[in-house]
Amino acid sequence: MALHKTCIATLIGTAMLASGAAGASANDSARPWMNSALTPDQRAELVVKAMTQGEKFRLIRVDFGNTDNGHVMAPGALGSAGYGPAIARLDLPALQESDAGLGVAKPHKLGATALPSGLATAASFDPAIAYAGGAMIGGEAHRRGFNVMLAGGVDLVRDPRNGRNFEYAGEDPLLAGVIAGNAIAGIQSRHVVSTIKHYALNDLETDRTTVSANIDRAAARESDLLAFEIAIATGRPGSVMCSYNRINTVYACEDGWLLNDVLKHDWHYPGFVMSDWGAVHSGAKAALAGLDQESAGETFDKEVYFDRPLRAAVASGEVPQARLDDMARRILRSLFAAGVLDHPATQSPIDFAADRKVAQRAEEAGAVLLRNHDALLPITAAQSVAVIGSHADKGVLTGGGSSAVQSPQGNAVPGLPPTAWPGPRIYQPSAPLTAIRQRAHGTVSYASGEDIAAAAKLATQAKVAVVFVHQWAAESFDRPLLALSGNQDALVEAVAKANPHTIVVLENNGPVAMPWLDRVGAVLEAWYPGAAGGDAIARLLYGEVAPAGRLPVTWPRDESQLPRPTIPGAGLAAIGLPPQGQPAQEIDYNIEGADVGYRWYQRQHLEPLFPFGYGLTYTHFAYSGFAPHAKGGKLTASFTVTNRGKRTGVDVPQLYVTLPGSKVRRLAGWCRVSLAPGQSAQLTVTADPRLLVNFDGKGQRWLRPAGDYQLQLGHSATSFEGEGKVELTATSWAADVSPAGTPQRCTAGRAANQ
Ligand code: BGC
Repeated sequence: MALHKTCIATLIGTAMLASGAAGASANDSARPWMNSALTPDQRAELVVKAMTQGEKFRLIRVDFGNTDNGHVMAPGALGSAGYGPAIARLDLPALQESDAGLGVAKPHKLGATALPSGLATAASFDPAIAYAGGAMIGGEAHRRGFNVMLAGGVDLVRDPRNGRNFEYAGEDPLLAGVIAGNAIAGIQSRHVVSTIKHYALNDLETDRTTVSANIDRAAARESDLLAFEIAIATGRPGSVMCSYNRINTVYACEDGWLLNDVLKHDWHYPGFVMSDWGAVHSGAKAALAGLDQESAGETFDKEVYFDRPLRAAVASGEVPQARLDDMARRILRSLFAAGVLDHPATQSPIDFAADRKVAQRAEEAGAVLLRNHDALLPITAAQSVAVIGSHADKGVLTGGGSSAVQSPQGNAVPGLPPTAWPGPRIYQPSAPLTAIRQRAHGTVSYASGEDIAAAAKLATQAKVAVVFVHQWAAESFDRPLLALSGNQDALVEAVAKANPHTIVVLENNGPVAMPWLDRVGAVLEAWYPGAAGGDAIARLLYGEVAPAGRLPVTWPRDESQLPRPTIPGAGLAAIGLPPQGQPAQEIDYNIEGADVGYRWYQRQHLEPLFPFGYGLTYTHFAYSGFAPHAKGGKLTASFTVTNRGKRTGVDVPQLYVTLPGSKVRRLAGWCRVSLAPGQSAQLTVTADPRLLVNFDGKGQRWLRPAGDYQLQLGHSATSFEGEGKVELTATSWAADVSPAGTPQRCTAGRAANQ
């Protein structure tokens, strides 16, 4: 019978070849893994069976994909981060890998659409915004010929000075996990494998390749690892990128607890672990710990550990053949699961105008209005405006390093330091000044801000002054202080003195010191605003769209409030911030442990400048009828939210829970709702079960303690309107069982107008 079927298949194949409909069926019999009715696991298994040892060893390492660092680029590479040649005999496509989570970063000269910072997307508290952004950049990657995106940054913000915060999704594991997971799902919807990175605890950049992030393992499971766990469950990324740093003295890419025990065993992760670029220090040891693919070892590692050294280890039996097969299988499985072979990435035109709108919507949803004294904002069209500073006449700033995306129109402000890594410093050509001019009927003037007196004089001649200030941050270094660089504080002070209607727009990596805060009328946190940042900022300032973002990070008053007030060795000489002191070889994350961000502030009785979850808009909301429920271990809270102001706006009511015996609250769920003036909505938030448990290190299990769970409905992590208690019984789950049910964070009941 089987023989008969084979014969028919061969015949059909021959007939199709003869009739000119070449390929597919003939290939199907010779390449049974191309049968898309099979599961990704079955397809991967079939390929592994057909592979030679040499082909397996080729698959488990990729080369650097461009000409930086004196690397000779392979002919098939596309000029980006990573390249693994096609295996033609098996019809396996080349692996074409590009950074990163905010857009297709390379090659710079071709350009791509830049999303705003990851923190802007996180500030939207909107999974749909994250998914749309992911789908947009995944689509561009696919049309550039890339099939792997090095995206999904989800390291928690433990310090606002970390140089890569703009690539991440904030300080809260639930918010970060949901946002990064949706961004990953969006990327993979375009048949591009997404990574999630940097696994794990790469929460500072200073001396990142050797520093040891020290933390109690249970605390890690409840904080940084929880963000990864939630994002992986949400987005199912094909790959996890292990990070540069050590964890409790062990390199992340050779940490068997991190890779084998937690990721692959406890979380049942079926995809592959790739290394960061230059994060591999061994062959057999790393492979046995769970690393599946070495990235650009020929350029960044001491040697290509997954070539000669690993071949020897497999030949000697130190690394079992089954482990090598598992490495290949995991890579292939992820390619099949994302549809990389069924929907090959091919170079084709990109609709940049449409993609720019996606970036614009993300910025509009994620900019956070921090202050709006006397309803200075929105600006009215009749008002004259003095626009000042930060090259607002040319564009908006982008964070630096491997994730930096340059527009297809090029860098709007070329030549700023540093021009070498982690530069160039890139501006998106979306000028706020132009967008403001398009809206204002009165005079709009501009001053660069270099001459403070001239800027202040200009401000006296206008009804409102909009001062743009910036803070450039990048991969590979941390900023030593929260202060803005150069004379920007003096500029704001002078302009505010000259004009009581001064609005400050921040283009930055995150929280900065604002010594002038009380003397300005309004402050808009625009993060790094992305490809259409100028338009988005103008639309927000003029009220064409209301600010909707809520802070995904706590904003400290000053460095003394942080768990580690100093970062020895932080800085970058090329931008006038020479590193001070010797970098520490160990970072003590046990200081705050799992109490990252707002939990730290509560535990220490510290009042931040702005709390997590905080953000204003052009209206205000009230909550009523708060009613918590517990049924079958499921914890929900229902309430009514009403728009009490005169404009339509978005609210983000947040549900916080304090576990029995705990002193700190956790974000357990939220809603995001747009309401017209006077309109109400009845909402129900379900607490995510993964936030109702503690990790018991001794028993290696999740424990939900018995007792009263205090629930609070927050406008932010410190301002509540509605609270209550419910009782839950004790339950436990083994470490390899997630307490998660089907997360359904927010459901809406009746909406009503008053
Ligand atoms: C970064 C990664 C990036 C890789 C490839 C590394 O320096 O840490 O995030 O994906 O380079 O460019």
